[in-house]
Amino acid sequence: MTDDLATLKAETTATLAAAEDLRAWDAVRVAVLGRNGTLTQKLKELGALTPEARRERGAALNRAKDELTALIEARRTALEAAALDAQLGNERLDVTLPPRPQPAGLIHPISRTMEEIAAIFGAMGFAIAEGPDIEDDWRNFGALNIPAHHSAREDMDTFYLPPAGADGRRRVLRTHTSPVQVRTMLDQPPPIRVVVPGRTYRADHDATHSPMFHQLEGLAIDRTLTLGHLKGCLIDFLRAYFGISNLPMRFRSSYFPFTEPSMEVDIGWNRRTGELGGGGDWLEILGSGMVHSKVLANCGVDPLMWQGFAFGMGIERITMLKHGIPDLRPFYESDLRWLRHYGFSPLAPAILHEGV
Ligand code: PHE
Repeated sequence: MTDDLATLKAETTATLAAAEDLRAWDAVRVAVLGRNGTLTQKLKELGALTPEARRERGAALNRAKDELTALIEARRTALEAAALDAQLGNERLDVTLPPRPQPAGLIHPISRTMEEIAAIFGAMGFAIAEGPDIEDDWRNFGALNIPAHHSAREDMDTFYLPPAGADGRRRVLRTHTSPVQVRTMLDQPPPIRVVVPGRTYRADHDATHSPMFHQLEGLAIDRTLTLGHLKGCLIDFLRAYFGISNLPMRFRSSYFPFTEPSMEVDIGWNRRTGELGGGGDWLEILGSGMVHSKVLANCGVDPLMWQGFAFGMGIERITMLKHGIPDLRPFYESDLRWLRHYGFSPLAPAILHEGV
């Protein structure tokens, strides 16, 4: 190696060692290999030499360039590693700091009740079934043995929708979840055990009625089901849901076009305090009965081979009773203060406290 190149190498080694950070390092790199760098300058001077001298000098310069490039890159690697070490040494993680609060959502009481219903009836072998909010009047009324001009159609304050569809059936916002009984029987062969939580609609609005509300329907079809099974099922459900193992219950005979016999169910409570379980007063809570043979036949189920029971109740109502919620309207007002008070933590899912 010629003297000037040996000197350049020695100088570069020294200035690189003195470069303490990447900025200083880059200045050295530019001074040697940059467009006007010392080595670049020497390469430009090759053109003035004779061919033999150029060959020899060119080879020496190329070797020197490789060596210098390696030296410079090695210093960069060392500086980067040192910078990372310094950063890791400086950063401290304080594991004793209290966590920052994370805003978490809450489960709406209606959703919570539906989860509890699913858990309790799921344990009894019922599946969840669903149907559309917009029904035709055959599924909402006719198939359920409520003929046209039957007073039940007026009782339910039905919302009718403008006529649509070629089948001639009128569209309605379903007034109860019972049309899903019809859909389920038409869809699947018995035996059947389903519960149907869902939205329902009636033209009614005050502190205890909303034009949109939720119902829970139940349907069980088998060869030998009796009124005794219906009573047992409702006793188990209401006692598990309210968490009161000796909840008093009363079964009263009643009338629904789609069940025969029909009965309404009352639970014991104290009218004055609102407390459930005792107090000597009765509160009506749901409608039920053995599925009418005409309904079975309308839905393609042979009433001579199959029988079963059905029930329906208001989800808001059982939610208000269980949690002491006095007014129905805030359920739908999306007032966060109300939800913070009555909502449920998503981290504490519905479980069966009392068992079934
Ligand atoms: N569909 C009835 C109502 O909305 C409730 C019911 C369902 C009654 C099933 C008996 C059997 O009032």
